Amino acid sequence: MNILVLPGDGIGPEVCYEAVETLRQLCEARGVPFETQEDHAGGSAIDAYGDPMPDSVIEKAKAADAVLLGAVGGPKWDDLTGAMRPESGLLKIRKELSVFANLRPVAVPETLAAASPLRPEAIAGTDLLVVRELTGGIYFGEPRERSGEAGAEVAYNTMRYSTEEIERVARVAFTWARRRGGRLCSVDKANVLVVSQLWRDVVTKLHAEEFSDVELSHMYVDNAAMQLVIRPSQFDVILTGNLFGDILSDAAATLGGSLGLLPSASLGGSVGLFEPVHGSAPDIAGQGLANPIAMLLSSAMMLDELEQPELATALRAGVQSALDAGLRTADLHREGQTTKAGTKELSQHVREAALKALG
Ligand code: IPM
Ligand code: MG
Repeated sequence: MNILVLPGDGIGPEVCYEAVETLRQLCEARGVPFETQEDHAGGSAIDAYGDPMPDSVIEKAKAADAVLLGAVGGPKWDDLTGAMRPESGLLKIRKELSVFANLRPVAVPETLAAASPLRPEAIAGTDLLVVRELTGGIYFGEPRERSGEAGAEVAYNTMRYSTEEIERVARVAFTWARRRGGRLCSVDKANVLVVSQLWRDVVTKLHAEEFSDVELSHMYVDNAAMQLVIRPSQFDVILTGNLFGDILSDAAATLGGSLGLLPSASLGGSVGLFEPVHGSAPDIAGQGLANPIAMLLSSAMMLDELEQPELATALRAGVQSALDAGLRTADLHREGQTTKAGTKELSQHVREAALKALG
């Protein structure tokens, strides 16, 4: 296993360190060769190279088996614009690796139901997967422009999808629905946007031709946002475009009580990109407070993708064990109910329990 690690900014390095240490120990326990290379991304790459994602890093990523990324961005780089923003670096590596399918699973274990902003009966049974299109739509659509004189400026982006772009991500989502609960909900805004009308037609046609065993429904994005907070357990797989997926996945992520829990895998090209959904959390960076779970679970998704399901299962068992033991980082800790743990302490518990689960 040859992994490119891009810790990035803010809490990225702290959580990446723990994930790499965990992967190293798990691989060692099973005699799986494990090697890492590290480089800069986002703000740290701006500081080191004057570019949030230099081509040299992209080349390393393409040569690796997988890329593990922490988080990018922070107040230090907030005044930068356009291609110099840390976020542009993230978009560039997604595009360059052609990882068009972004998987964001949200399962709320019973141990976390109390931390959810929803009532326990509303959250019970939530186990969904957001499949977000990641390399197209309004994030990348051309033309885009900001022009005009100060005070009278005009700006626009373009939400654009081709049949092929919709079909390939829909195929990934249907395949996951087949493996999971057999249901797919495609989310769009087809009552207003012509791009969504094409989206809906392509998904419907693919369903009829190749996936009629999967139960398909369509939902407008505004309703989907509401349904996610009213009765999230109704969803199995949600398929949606880049912008809607960005928004809905944050809403879904917080169902478990913290954004610090949600992992992601971006797939579709020859090299996968694995990153937590949370950002760089500059307010708590460097203090050992960050929740490492999203990064650890992203690593588990990577292990699955690299055909190490036994290690992935052990790692997930380790995370579950830490939660069952009542360990919580500050984002989820409740005085008198859980045991407060730092990034290191929680990760250490996960590692020990994961190694034990491996036997
Ligand atoms: C995400 C993030 C990114 C996105 C930002 C940092 C560019 O919000 O991965 O959800 O919008 O895709
Ligand atoms: Mg987001």
